[in-house]
Amino acid sequence: MAGLASVGSGGDTSPSTGFTATVHDIDPDLGRRPEPLALVIFGASGDLAHRKILPALAQLVERGSLNDQFALVGVARSDWTDEEFREMCRKLAPPSSNGAWNRLVDRFRYVAGDYGDDATFGRLAEILDGFDAESGTAGNRVYYLATIPALFGAVAGSLAKHGCNRPAPGGDFARLVVEKPFGSDLASAKDLDASLHEAFREDQIFRIDHYMGKETVQNVLALRFANSIFEPIWNRRYVDHVQVTVAESLGVEHRGGFYETAGALRDIVQNHVMQVLSLTLMEPPSSMDADGIRDEKVKLLRSVLIPDTDEAVNNVVRGQYQRGTLHGEDVPGYREEDGVSPSSQTETYVAMHLLVDNWRWAGVPIYVRTGKRLADRATEVSMVFQRPPHLPFAGKLARDLRPDTLTLRIQPDEGIALSFGAKVPGPAFRVRSVAMDFSYAEAFPGGTADAYERLLLDAMSGDATLFIRSDEVDQAWEIVAPIQQAFLEGEPPLAHYRAGGWGPIEADRLIEGGGRQWRNP
Ligand code: BG6
Repeated sequence: MAGLASVGSGGDTSPSTGFTATVHDIDPDLGRRPEPLALVIFGASGDLAHRKILPALAQLVERGSLNDQFALVGVARSDWTDEEFREMCRKLAPPSSNGAWNRLVDRFRYVAGDYGDDATFGRLAEILDGFDAESGTAGNRVYYLATIPALFGAVAGSLAKHGCNRPAPGGDFARLVVEKPFGSDLASAKDLDASLHEAFREDQIFRIDHYMGKETVQNVLALRFANSIFEPIWNRRYVDHVQVTVAESLGVEHRGGFYETAGALRDIVQNHVMQVLSLTLMEPPSSMDADGIRDEKVKLLRSVLIPDTDEAVNNVVRGQYQRGTLHGEDVPGYREEDGVSPSSQTETYVAMHLLVDNWRWAGVPIYVRTGKRLADRATEVSMVFQRPPHLPFAGKLARDLRPDTLTLRIQPDEGIALSFGAKVPGPAFRVRSVAMDFSYAEAFPGGTADAYERLLLDAMSGDATLFIRSDEVDQAWEIVAPIQQAFLEGEPPLAHYRAGGWGPIEADRLIEGGGRQWRNP
C-alpha cells in the first residue's frame, strides 16, 4: 500500500548535521497521483469547505499532485451560480500560485439545491456524466460530506438512490469521505453507520480525523517501528506512566452553539485523543497497510479498561474556563461566549486517568488532559520512565533530577525531546535533568503538508490507512460512554479554571493522587 509504507523513505540525511534533510524528503507521498476522478463536495458553500478542503485541494493542484482528468462539483443549499462558486474558489489560490488552480477552477460546477430533493441529485448525475465525456474523469467518484452531520445519512441515501454509490460505467471506484463527529454517542454512531452502510460498503467509506493527517502523529509510528532503541523500553517494565496533552489557547470562537452540544469529551477525547493514544500504545502491526494498522489500533482501544460510572466520576475531571488573561489579553469566560448559555454546564476541559489492560501496559496509568483557553497551544505525548531502582546520590544532590521522559511534540514546534539526568559541572556530584531535542522544522526545512492535503490525497488515491474504521469509532465511544453518562448526571461537579492557566486545580489533584505531576508543555 502507499500511505505509511513511505514514512521515512525520503532523501539522504545530511552527514554533517545528521538531521538536515532536503525538501524532496517530504515530497514522495505527495508526488503520488490519484486516478482520474470527479470530486463532489456536499456543503461546498460552508465553513469547512472554505477553510480546509478547498485550500488543501488548491495546494495539491499547485503542487501537481492531481491528474489533469480531475473535476469538481460543489453542492450546497446556497443559491449560487457556477460562476459565483468559481469566484469563491479563485480567492483560495495559494499566494505562490502558478495559475494551475485558477485554470482548473474554470471547469468547476456548482449545484444549488436541497439534499433531500431528487432534482439535486439528478442534476449532479448529469454533470458527472458530462465530466466523464469531456474531462476524462473515467466514471470514478469521490463524494465528500462536509455538511452538518445530521445530513450525512440522507445524502448517502440519496446518492445510492441515484446509483451514485457505484462507479459510473468504465470507472473503478465511488468513495464517501465523512467528517467527524461520527455520532454523538455510541447509539447515534451506530445509527449513522447503519445508514451509511445501507448506501456504501465499509471499504468505500473514509472517515476523517484530521489528527491522523498530521505528520507528527504519523511520526509516532516511525519513532516506534523504524528504530530499535525505543520499542524494548515501550512497556510496563520501564514506563512509569503516560501523559497525553491536547491544549488549546483558543476558545470556542464563533462555534459556541455547536460546542454547547459537544464539549471537550466528544470534541477531542473521543476522537483525536483516542487516535493518538492508540498509535502510541498499540502493538507493532504485521504490515503498514490500512488493515494492519487499524487492526492494532482497535485491539488497543479494546484493551482500555472501561470504567463504570462511579469509577468514571473518581477518575475524571471536567472543567470550564472563566474569564482571564491570555498572552496579555483579557478574554471572556465560556459562559460569556456567543451562542453559549449563561448557565452552561458544558465542559471545555477534561482530565482523566485511564488504564490499558493488556500484557504491555497493565498497571501503567495513562493520564489525558485537554482543554480550551489554556496558557498555550500544545499537543504532546510523554512517556515518563521509572526512576532508577537505586540512586547513589545523596538526596540534595539529586533534587533537580526528574524522571527520564520521552516527549513527542505533535504541535507546535513539532519534534521529540528526551530528558535525562546529567552531572552539573563542579566538584559536587550533583545531577539534574537536561534535554536532547530533535526539531522537525530544523531537520526538514521544507515544511510539512497540511493534514487535509494528506488526507484528501489519500482518499482520492484509495489509501484508507489514516482513516477511521467503524469498529474504531464504536470502541472509542464505548470508552467514553460511562463518562458521558456521569457528565449527564452532573458528576463530577464542574470545576472552573481561569482562561490563560493550565486548567483546574482538581486536575492537578487527580495526577498528584497517583504521586505524579503534569509536565509543563
Ligand atoms: C477539531 C475540534 O476537531 O479540532 C476543534 O472540533 C479543535 O474544537 C480542533 O479546535 C483542534 O485541531 P488542531 O489541529 O488545531 O489541533
